[in-house]
Amino acid sequence: MTDVAKRKSVAPAPLDWEYAPAPEARDIVRFDDRYGLFVGGKHVEPKSGEWFATTSPATEEQLAEVALAGAEDVDLAVGAAREAYEDGWSGLRPAERAKYLFRIARILQERSRELAVAESLDGGKPIKESRDVDLPLAAAHFFYYAGWADKLEYAFPHRAPRPLGVAGQIIPWNFPLLMLAWKIAPALAAGNTVVLKPAETTPLTALLFTDVCRQAELPPGVVNIVTGDGSTGAHLVKHPGVDKIAFTGSTEVGKAIQRELAGTGTRLTLELGGKAANIVFDDCALDQAIEGIVNGIYFNQGHVCCAGSRLLVQESIYEPLVAKLKRRLTTLRVGDPLDKNTDVGAINSQAQLERIRELVASGEEEGAEIYQPPCRLPEKGYWFAPTVFTNVAQSYRIAQEEIFGPVLSVLTFRTPEEAVEKANNTAYGLSAGVWTEKGSRILWMTARLRAGVVWANTFNRFDPTSPFGGYKESGFGREGGRHGLEAYLAFD
Ligand code: NAI
Ligand code: MG
Repeated sequence: MTDVAKRKSVAPAPLDWEYAPAPEARDIVRFDDRYGLFVGGKHVEPKSGEWFATTSPATEEQLAEVALAGAEDVDLAVGAAREAYEDGWSGLRPAERAKYLFRIARILQERSRELAVAESLDGGKPIKESRDVDLPLAAAHFFYYAGWADKLEYAFPHRAPRPLGVAGQIIPWNFPLLMLAWKIAPALAAGNTVVLKPAETTPLTALLFTDVCRQAELPPGVVNIVTGDGSTGAHLVKHPGVDKIAFTGSTEVGKAIQRELAGTGTRLTLELGGKAANIVFDDCALDQAIEGIVNGIYFNQGHVCCAGSRLLVQESIYEPLVAKLKRRLTTLRVGDPLDKNTDVGAINSQAQLERIRELVASGEEEGAEIYQPPCRLPEKGYWFAPTVFTNVAQSYRIAQEEIFGPVLSVLTFRTPEEAVEKANNTAYGLSAGVWTEKGSRILWMTARLRAGVVWANTFNRFDPTSPFGGYKESGFGREGGRHGLEAYLAFD
């Protein structure tokens, strides 16, 4: 017998293959027991006197205590940002500003393992994603905007760009460090100073970032970090000393912020929810499309504003596609975020898990058919199995509302016109995907899809040079690319 034949005769069926655990070492990161606020380059105790715990959603263990900033704390942070803006940062030679951003980018690369482990511990996302997506992209954003810092007149010729002043930035929990980079890098490159509020369940990488600022010798007050909950965010939004608010999060809070700022002259960009259509035509490369569908909705447990949560399949390939998709789901590994083989980690919080469960229950009640692959979920922590709904009508809540979890709703279409109509039948307009072999069809579709980003034969691809943002209830303003600078500049 040849070697190959021998191996074949003893090899178990693929579904029986078990991976040995491959945990990433967690001792590369050490958290303090308690973190104060980062104001004017110093860690300070909150005047509010309030603290709260951040936990690991995979184990429910407490990782650290962080300050809950009140109105007075926010006021001090805005004051420190104003002082840094006026006392040097806005007047610094642009090439000098660029040097700090390059330094931050390089330090993020040097400390990427530590920060990736911290991100996975605090937020529950698989280490392979924080290591291969969040950290490289966060560093890439700083590198990219460092390059623009001394070229603003070339980016906006004859428009005399100048910084706005102090930017208040509020970010969500799904990509904590990456959203920090999306916000801070363009703001600083354009000559602004910032007060950033991380989400309550994932403050730790922003707090470690304060040490990156120290290492980069960033002047005090250029970056200030105030941890807290929605009330802290609301104080920042209301503060009269803030010139611009950049918010990423739920549509509901985005609308409240827009109401609050109406008529104040404070500049605003909102990056809100989504319910993206991932549209698969019968001439696509089917196996490749299956990978794109899986990446589109199960990446980061589906906690992705641009997730491909509505799958639109051309009727002629519906059956083989759904069969292949279900088979592929059985190979997804759900569990310990620090295991390098994990594909789907923990749900970010108890509250988010409840929201997912509620929407999934509504899907079953309304008449959709649910499929979940057999998988053992850990006993502690917050988990949800990868889920596919078929027989979904457009009117169902699971076809309309953002679930923000590993839950896919499958619908069908017959013609490209019908696909466009169904794809656009949503209050959102953040992203979409098209799978087809025909280039002309891709162009025809992208011209008609009301979405800020349309991916063709791929999904969830990000690059700092490419602007990202939405239409309709997905918000307004663009982040990334040259467009991302515009949100942090005033023009004569
Ligand atoms: P959220 O919108 O409440 O939280 C996002 C950020 O806004 C956090 O930092 C939070 O502290 C802050 N915030 C909350 N209330 C505020 C207020 N009144 N003023 C200023 N800042 C405030 O989102 P949440 O409750 O964590 O998630 C709810 C749903 O929102 C999710 O199920 C998902 O559908 C959607 N979402 C969408 C995100 C996106 O990237 N587009 C990110 C996070 C959530
Ligand atoms: Mg946490």
